[in-house]
Amino acid sequence: MDTSKNLFPHKHFVDANLRRKLTKQKPILIWLSGLSGSGKSTIANELEKKLYENKYLSYLLDGDNIRVGLNKDLGFSDNDRKENIRRISEVSRLMIDAGLIVITAFISPFEEERKLASTLVKAENFYLVHVECTVEKCEERDVKGLYKKARSGEIKNFTGIDSPYEIPQNPSITVNTENESVEESVNKIFKGILQKIK
Ligand code: ADX
Repeated sequence: MDTSKNLFPHKHFVDANLRRKLTKQKPILIWLSGLSGSGKSTIANELEKKLYENKYLSYLLDGDNIRVGLNKDLGFSDNDRKENIRRISEVSRLMIDAGLIVITAFISPFEEERKLASTLVKAENFYLVHVECTVEKCEERDVKGLYKKARSGEIKNFTGIDSPYEIPQNPSITVNTENESVEESVNKIFKGILQKIK
């Protein structure tokens, strides 16, 4: 049912501009995309630590955490993954409006949903990081033991095995976790965003 014609969004007095004066930072969405086990969560966590140490107010949204709460009704079909990313994009939009620097760590395998996220927060506020790592290397790491389960058929629709991952065509930056240390990747991203958040 389309109820949108009966809705009348308010314009609030305290808006993004006023909040920006308080926080003295420019909000941005740093979107990490990559295979399971590529290192998204590790990099996101270290990046947030660096932002904190430099006195930036941030919030980290991470796939495994969000999927046990807000998105616990969703699985791993293409449609559920799309809905997962749509909700995260909307939550990110609210957080951007609230003045935060948002970091997201989701596989986000589809170009179309990453584009939606960019459109929702506006392209100039969207910083796409491709966390690059071959499926072979992720499988060798297999930190959570999920690749093994996917190979044996215990888990279906596993990204990189029997579910697709569309490589980002125009990332703001690519970090490669096979050739770079966590510190190198984090420093690259931090350098890339610094002028945008000041
Ligand atoms: S996304 O594709 O919808 O963006 P998301 O990042 O939220 O995925 O969740 C991925 C995490 O869920 C993985 O890191 C892994 O721990 C877990 N997981 C469980 N089943 C699957 C699956 N079939 N494919 C990918 N990840 C899975």
